[in-house]
Amino acid sequence: MNNAPVGVFDSGIGGLTVVREIRRILPHENIVYLGDTARLPYGTKSVDVIIQYSLENMAFLLSRGAKYIVIACYSSTSVALEIVQQRCPVPVIGVIRPGVKRALKVSGSGKIGVIGTSLTIYSGAYEKVFHELSAGSEVIGRPCPLLVSLVEEGWLDHPATRLIVESYLKPLQEDGIDTLLLGCTHFPLLMEVFKKIMGTIQFVDASHEVSKELSRELERLDILSDASTGDLVIYLTDLSMNFKEIGERFLGEPMTNVSRVSLKKAGEGNKKA
Ligand code: DGL
Repeated sequence: MNNAPVGVFDSGIGGLTVVREIRRILPHENIVYLGDTARLPYGTKSVDVIIQYSLENMAFLLSRGAKYIVIACYSSTSVALEIVQQRCPVPVIGVIRPGVKRALKVSGSGKIGVIGTSLTIYSGAYEKVFHELSAGSEVIGRPCPLLVSLVEEGWLDHPATRLIVESYLKPLQEDGIDTLLLGCTHFPLLMEVFKKIMGTIQFVDASHEVSKELSRELERLDILSDASTGDLVIYLTDLSMNFKEIGERFLGEPMTNVSRVSLKKAGEGNKKA
């Protein structure tokens, strides 16, 4: 048993969709979450910068005693997972591989669409994992950067959102995909719009698969927590005006234990929200 926290990081508060699922599947785990809200978005930045940010996020979570790290950010997983794994003294998982495994399981034709930020899609990370796990699969990536802002704005069922989703997804529909993999923290909140536009195809939100994988890993390593209830401590690098309202939409529960942190001075004088 090990009651040290699971560390989770994302570019912002979208990764709370992953935390929500971890808390559902592993209610006894303590979680320390870092959202790098001061430097988001990650999905439009360069590979080198995201690697540097990801290593700093890792260092912060280690300074908080993390026993296992989950990179909840798809953009960060795309370009920084391997280097974080190499440099980290505790195990690290990302959000791409578990989603790909699930997509391959539910797809009948093997023709799978993936949507994400520009960085995620152009990195080729999904193609790499798909072809490693199933040489015969056909993956079609489509960057959908505008959807991140629409979700942050709370336009989950707005006519403008429907129009933009339709423009992004039409080419995938015409290509005849039978499965759509959501490769961004923000996209699960648009599931209803995706379903209306894409009809009866399969949708994969990796947050469930990541949490299941984490659960198997903690059990295998014999480091599951035996705390009576797991605590969630949230650190953000900036507290924007409406972070609580947006964050609670992702998390699905009140955000209580939130502090602002400066990564440069990790561990020193965190400011309570
Ligand atoms: N968290 C990012 C991701 O999953 C989306 C927001 C951003 O671009 O930072 O790719």
